[in-house]
Amino acid sequence: MKFGIIGAGNMGRALALGLAQSGAVKAADVCVSNPHTQKLEQLKAAVPDVNVTTSNVECVREADVVVLAVKPWKLAEVVAEVAPAIDSRRQVVCSVAGGVGLTALQEMFAQAGANPLPPLYYLIPNTAIAQRQSMTFMCSAGSNRETDECLLAVFRQLGDAMLVEERLMNAGMVLASCGIANALRYVRAATEGGVQLGFRAADAQHIVAQTLRGAASLLDAEGAHAEAEIDKVTTPGGLTIRGLNAMEREGFSNAVVQGLLAAMPESERRG
Ligand SMILES: NC(=O)c1ccc[n+]([C@@H]2O[C@H](COP(=O)([O-])OP(=O)(O)OC[C@H]3O[C@@H](n4cnc5c(N)ncnc54)[C@H](OP(=O)(O)O)[C@@H]3O)[C@@H](O)[C@H]2O)c1
Repeated sequence: MKFGIIGAGNMGRALALGLAQSGAVKAADVCVSNPHTQKLEQLKAAVPDVNVTTSNVECVREADVVVLAVKPWKLAEVVAEVAPAIDSRRQVVCSVAGGVGLTALQEMFAQAGANPLPPLYYLIPNTAIAQRQSMTFMCSAGSNRETDECLLAVFRQLGDAMLVEERLMNAGMVLASCGIANALRYVRAATEGGVQLGFRAADAQHIVAQTLRGAASLLDAEGAHAEAEIDKVTTPGGLTIRGLNAMEREGFSNAVVQGLLAAMPESERRG
């Protein structure tokens, strides 16, 4: 499967590196385009076999999967440029532009003269894609099951991926993309606590990060449940439950839920 990635910024670069380094596709089957050469040169220095170009049209020509990784306000301009070069029967298009849903994408391609429209995917990865640990959501229009499965398999190599109805994309973004910031805010708070307990800041952060990795890995077991894992740590009358209850008195769980709800677009807020 050949990828043509338009835009070599944070997301385009992370995706290109992730694809090439995970072995999901051969580096030589990834092409990246960007208007300025500096980011392309940096990418080439990191993975010499990746193809780079300043021409978006050249970038899409050989691709099976075209990924639009430009800012949302650049999307229409890029679609107008590349749509005439896309063969809708052979190629699929994925957009990672946040907040631009399938209907808007379809309109852009229709306006650019695409007929029929190519199969379109709207993807929401998170920044951990750079470490191949993204939780990526995707929804599609005009795709088929085989392509869905191929793309899911590729994005699962870069963490995990879920195909969802479009109505769940914002909820997924809040839980998994804003969720990175939420989790890191916990890391920051726990690190400060660790310093107060006597560790140097760098050690405390390392300890907290490894503890989080450990906690997440406990949930990988078949049928695992967060509360059951908490029960294993909380000796009746012990110190852990005292700490947890003190956190709850300060509103920990409620603060997390309220944070998630507040991050949803107003039109989709529940509660
Ligand atoms: N960063 C994230 O965590 C994240 C997460 C999920 C989704 N996204 C989405 O990913 C998209 C890209 O975000 P980003 O953070 O990667 O932005 P970014 O770092 O600014 O990257 C955008 C890239 O697009 C290039 N570009 C601008 N005009 C172009 C054109 N006409 N043709 C080809 N390339 C062009 C820019 O080139 P120059 O800078 O060289 O001009 C830049 O390298 C956004 O739509 C965002 O919503 C980002």
